[in-house]
Amino acid sequence: MKIQVITLFPEMFTGVLGSSMLWKAADRNIVEYEFINLREYGLGPRKQVDDTPYGGGDGMLLMVEPLVAAIEAAKAKCPEAKVMLPTPRGKLYKQSDAKRLAAATQDLIIICPRYEGYDERVTKWVDEQFCIGNYVLTGGELPAMIMIDSVVRLLPGVLGGETSAEVESFQDDDESIEYPQYTRPETFQDMKVPDVLLSGHHAEIAAWRKNN
Ligand code: ADE
Repeated sequence: MKIQVITLFPEMFTGVLGSSMLWKAADRNIVEYEFINLREYGLGPRKQVDDTPYGGGDGMLLMVEPLVAAIEAAKAKCPEAKVMLPTPRGKLYKQSDAKRLAAATQDLIIICPRYEGYDERVTKWVDEQFCIGNYVLTGGELPAMIMIDSVVRLLPGVLGGETSAEVESFQDDDESIEYPQYTRPETFQDMKVPDVLLSGHHAEIAAWRKNN
């Protein structure tokens, strides 16, 4: 699975994709990350990527020409890739979307908007618009990282081999949260691990976990 990210701030991804499971997934060639700096597709000697909105209003918008040029460069490498656009106007991103994208192991191109947004005409090149929650961020980089994390961890061979991706929260987009867990010590500042978890009784432990 190849994930190409179109961004003005590729350095924001270094820590997140360069650590832990997201790094391991790339190291094991399960996923490949590539960054396309939108600035390289900027217009004129100043490599301009943004301009003021028609009709007035605050802030700057990403221009359609650099965005489409960057998308087409990414598509040239992966013609079948799905183009994803994080935006507060998109459909709420859920665990079922992560599962669907991981199961398809389809190459992805993720555009990261900045400033006050983007020229709406770019959406003609976009397959899916998604929103990660009812709050507004300064750009699409964090939503892109959230989507990458949620998808890559579900790819075969990324998690530790046990059932971690199966027995977990939001299995079916419902509100069910993973059961609480404990490790040593048995008692910490008067707080004791529930007896049933120390009992070794698998059926009772399973029942407890279902109800907690
Ligand atoms: N860009 C800014 N805020 C966002 C959000 N909540 N979801 C997706 N993209 C965004």
